[in-house]
Amino acid sequence: MTHHPPGTPAAPPTAGVPATGHGSAPAANGMGLVYLATAVSALGGMLFGYDIGVISGAILFIKKAFSLSAGLEEIVVSSVLLGSLIGAAGGGVLADRLGRRRLLIVTAAVFGLGAIGAALAPGTASLIAARVVAGAAIGAASFVAPLYISELAPAAIRGKLVSINQVALTSGIVVSYLVDYAFAPSHAWRWMFALAVVPAAAFGIGLLFVPNSPRWLVSRGHAGRARAVLGRIRAADQVAGELADIEHSLAQQKPHWSELASPLLRPAMIVGVGLAIAQQVTGINTVIYYAPTIFKFAGLSSAPAAILASVGVGVVNVALTLVAMQLIDRIGRRPLLLGSLAGMALSLAVLGVAFSLPHGSGSLGLIAVVSLMAYVGSFAIGLGPVFWLLLSEIYPLRIRSRAMSIGTFANWAANLIVAISFLTLTQVLGKPATFWLYGVVSIGAWLFAFFLVPETRGRSLEQIEAHWRAGKPPRAL
Ligand code: BGC
Repeated sequence: MTHHPPGTPAAPPTAGVPATGHGSAPAANGMGLVYLATAVSALGGMLFGYDIGVISGAILFIKKAFSLSAGLEEIVVSSVLLGSLIGAAGGGVLADRLGRRRLLIVTAAVFGLGAIGAALAPGTASLIAARVVAGAAIGAASFVAPLYISELAPAAIRGKLVSINQVALTSGIVVSYLVDYAFAPSHAWRWMFALAVVPAAAFGIGLLFVPNSPRWLVSRGHAGRARAVLGRIRAADQVAGELADIEHSLAQQKPHWSELASPLLRPAMIVGVGLAIAQQVTGINTVIYYAPTIFKFAGLSSAPAAILASVGVGVVNVALTLVAMQLIDRIGRRPLLLGSLAGMALSLAVLGVAFSLPHGSGSLGLIAVVSLMAYVGSFAIGLGPVFWLLLSEIYPLRIRSRAMSIGTFANWAANLIVAISFLTLTQVLGKPATFWLYGVVSIGAWLFAFFLVPETRGRSLEQIEAHWRAGKPPRAL
């Protein structure tokens, strides 16, 4: 029968879908190609991280070069988020029409265009336009990369493989901080943007050497080509069973839009959109975008100290995402998610306390740095990777990319709202109450996850779909 790696449960059969063994890892030779495809598409994640991180350092020089008002500065910074909304919205239909891999090739070109456009921008308007273009690539790649990886991955290690995208994303943020730091002395902000061309080219070229998603091929009626792809990435005795499962599952699905509105799939829609919003309204990007500002609030006023602390935050983000990647297929998505949200609520409570200490109190800076690190670490070990993973797992094939596009749109919209309201909140509510507010929201998100989020560990995508179709509650998976 099938072989299951230690610590990985066998996938039990779910209503309507027999366990054919594609929950187990394929022969080692096929895995090489799966890993290559994962690494290449994770470059999309890296560009996502790089492009959102790079502006934090570049803006200091752009502000001077283009004599930006505060209002224009905000627009330059948030234009990328606006673009990502466009990319998230448009990517759903395109991922079906063009296919996952071909859409990623298009985003690679758009990433490159955005980078060159920003680097050469003669003025503010063209810079904003270039950032919207880069944002569109980010919005699409943010969900199509996990989607593509998820559809290629063997169920037993799908969590690990999809999380590699989040590792690349967080690494991209750190790389952008370091690039900003390196170019800062020469005020070379144009180079900060231009460098993204390198990973964009590697991304586009790499995608030429990896296969199409076999699931997408089946959904377009190319079962023969899907069988050929499965033959390259699975052990020979697994191909027929996995293909049969995909076809069986697809045969029960209605056309796109009616399937999206199906009452049986409502729990999946609620989980996707709910987690998308939860991932943002618990405040992570206030730290990613404003870390130096927060450290300045806490009394770390020298620029090198604030930059160093920001790099520290970025490194903690990468390190704990790596830990999550190791655990996600062993202990499962739910324990990581619940532990993550609990840790975030707790560290936000402490962060609020730190800011309520009298100003100039010596321990404020230290407590703020430590609790901020704990907060980012808590996000990284759960909510960060688990959201994108679950989003790529919980929808039936026919609507997967469109439903993901809705969740991703909600994620970027919430991201934008948090980004533009954070500084105002700290002025209106005060700093302690702002962090406590995110803490209370984290508790709400914990309850949401506890009651509504399913455990998808070790299940094939087709088994997850069959679960919804059987009308069973999420937690019964
Ligand atoms: C989130 C981003 C965030 C990043 C930080 C991602 O999972 O979607 O909004 O900036 O994690 O690591």
